[in-house]
Amino acid sequence: MPQQQDACTLLDEDHNSAFRLFEQYKAAHDDNRKRLLASQLCHDLLVHMQIEDEIFYPAFQRATGDQPLVRESDREHREARDLIGRIENAPTDARLMLQLEDVILDHVNDEREKMFPEARKAKGMDLMQLAQQLAARKTELLAAHPA
Ligand SMILES: [Fe+2]
Ligand SMILES: [Fe+2]
Repeated sequence: MPQQQDACTLLDEDHNSAFRLFEQYKAAHDDNRKRLLASQLCHDLLVHMQIEDEIFYPAFQRATGDQPLVRESDREHREARDLIGRIENAPTDARLMLQLEDVILDHVNDEREKMFPEARKAKGMDLMQLAQQLAARKTELLAAHPA
């Protein structure tokens, strides 16, 4: 039985696996592989943002009242979704993929450096319970729309 992880660690594992896919995409030489990696990456990111939007951000906002940080995160998610929409139509466009990587890097840094530390300090946030909710919803979404 793996040791239980809190919600921030669970979300950060998604971030790390997304960065691994960005690296694999950059190292890929043939277009079929790029298409496959782009589709997997876009799908993973959409599921990740959805579980944050549905579960983690609302819980964070309730516990901390930090509306500006949630608003900024929502804005970054919109920016990422916009780029993902364009990449789905042009999965071999390396320039678009680099733009997405930039947006995701900035956004993940905000989560790692601002949101997660604040969440871990917040009193009314049960990060172990949230991790279970996030994991359950992620499984549900992955099953509904397999990559
Ligand atoms: Fe995230
Ligand atoms: Fe996010």
